[in-house]
Amino acid sequence: MSKKPTTTKAQPETTGHSWDGIEEYNNPLPRWWLWTFYLTIIWGLIYTILYPAWPLVEGATQGLWGGNPRTSVAAEIQRFDDANAGIEAKLVAADLTAISADQELVGFATNAGAAVFKTWCAQCHGAGAAGAKGYPNLNDNDWLWGGTIEDIHTTIQHGIRNTEDADARYSEMPRFGADELLESEQIDQVVHYVLQLSGQDNDAALAAEGATVFADNCAACHAEDGSGDRAQGAPNLTDAIWLYGGDAAALTETVTNARFGVMPAWSGRLSEADIRAVATWVHSRGGGE
Ligand code: HEC
Ligand code: HEC
Repeated sequence: MSKKPTTTKAQPETTGHSWDGIEEYNNPLPRWWLWTFYLTIIWGLIYTILYPAWPLVEGATQGLWGGNPRTSVAAEIQRFDDANAGIEAKLVAADLTAISADQELVGFATNAGAAVFKTWCAQCHGAGAAGAKGYPNLNDNDWLWGGTIEDIHTTIQHGIRNTEDADARYSEMPRFGADELLESEQIDQVVHYVLQLSGQDNDAALAAEGATVFADNCAACHAEDGSGDRAQGAPNLTDAIWLYGGDAAALTETVTNARFGVMPAWSGRLSEADIRAVATWVHSRGGGE
């Protein structure tokens, strides 16, 4: 026969509180825990005195130590701005065409310009400026609006076909199909003529008819020989470089509905020094004239 041992564990004291017969034990927290807790409070208070913390009506307390990541970043930026102020002023004052002859300016402008490009231009023109459908490659010799430093500078400053800058570069290819300026048969013909101009497979009979359609409807902008006109941003149609695509389907789409490539103006967003820097960078990419 075994007898269940009676538990003789000492009952802790109660606090004397009792709710519906339920009593509350008095189990104090360990000393070490309590003191650590008090220390964290003291540490927290000291921290908020040394560092910016307490909100005021306007702003916040600045902290006795004065150091503050936000002001130190601002100071750091200011330090770079001050260091660059001289060379930026020189860049802005220089004749655009003289920049490339000045090693110091070129060095500064290409570095700064590459950074500007990554931030503001790469979304559309690609990280390496190689472009994409509808967004021109800026590394080649094929320019819609011109590849001299002045041309590039103007393009960046005012942008293209945007509504925000009255001096934006502007031109508009007619929508030959959508606006019924040409019959679909004539569109077929002129498309084959453009295929021929660019040295691609084409139907010779259609292309021969297309030559007349081209002379009557397209030459005013794309030139008699199809080599384009930079004054109007009309692309060269005789090379293998296409902004929107050079196969029959893409050409038919362009002639039917036209395109309307828009680039923002940068004069209101970037400083003149930044615009000149990025213009110099683009110009130096190999395709600059
Ligand atoms: C929102 C898109 C977009 C952004 C951002 C943009 N571009 Fe463009 N850019 C275009 C388009 C579209 C064209 C071609 C427009 C056309 O069809 O004529 C163009 C054309 C150009 C041209 C003319 C190329 C030529 O062949 O004549 C230059 C130069 C250029 N961009 C430079 C820049 C630079 C530098 C930046 C940054 C500061 C920039 N772009 C930002 C869309 C953009
Ligand atoms: C008023 C001037 C104008 C006329 C007329 C005109 N074009 Fe254009 N064309 C342009 C411009 C400007 C662009 C560039 C549009 C853009 O970048 O958004 C262009 C673009 C094109 C392209 C795209 C080229 C590429 O690289 O993807 C083709 C193809 C083309 N035109 C063919 C024609 C044909 C064919 C005709 C006649 C039926 C014609 N155009 C008439 C101004 C004109």
